[in-house]
Amino acid sequence: MSRKLLFSTALICLISFANLSATHAASKTVNDLRAAYLGETTAHAKYAVYAKIADKEGYKDIARLFRAASVAESIHARNHKRALEQLGVRNPKAGEFAASKAKTTRQNLQDAIKGETYEKNIMYPGMLKDARQEDKQGAIQSFSFALQVERQHAALYTAALKSLSKNTRPVNYYVCPVCGSTFRNVAPRSCPVCGTAREKFISVR
Ligand SMILES: [Fe+2]
Ligand SMILES: [Fe+2]
Repeated sequence: MSRKLLFSTALICLISFANLSATHAASKTVNDLRAAYLGETTAHAKYAVYAKIADKEGYKDIARLFRAASVAESIHARNHKRALEQLGVRNPKAGEFAASKAKTTRQNLQDAIKGETYEKNIMYPGMLKDARQEDKQGAIQSFSFALQVERQHAALYTAALKSLSKNTRPVNYYVCPVCGSTFRNVAPRSCPVCGTAREKFISVR
């Protein structure tokens, strides 16, 4: 084999290996984003169902909380989808939620706490670590926003379950359209997670 041919073959091998590593490196974040998108679209649908049940059972304030969280989860889903698009992935699989799976408001709150706790303690910290390792900036931001907001949701649902009452006066909830941050009753001047101004917040009743 001539020296020139040997050099070309080695170069091709090297390039192929680099491409393979790059593809492999991206796959963890892509898989995480797909899973997170499926989870957030499911949560969005589920909380909308839980809100209707809470309304029917007379828990007006909790119905608003579920509606606000449903909006927030759709914002997380949109952010994950955008991050996937940046990585060349389109049309990720969206989740659904069958209304028949819903229970009473007390049980639905327990289920919501379980889901949010898993997301804030296990799922998003792990995904964030993967995205940082692979240096995928869009995914890092999307996971980071979701992680911080799921902490808020876990706290809001926990407080709601503790003081479960049909007599609680319903208050407005505010959702940041950029990161999904969810505020009960009073909205800060700007979002503590992403800095968006209060005027842009979505008011949920
Ligand atoms: Fe959430
Ligand atoms: Fe925000």
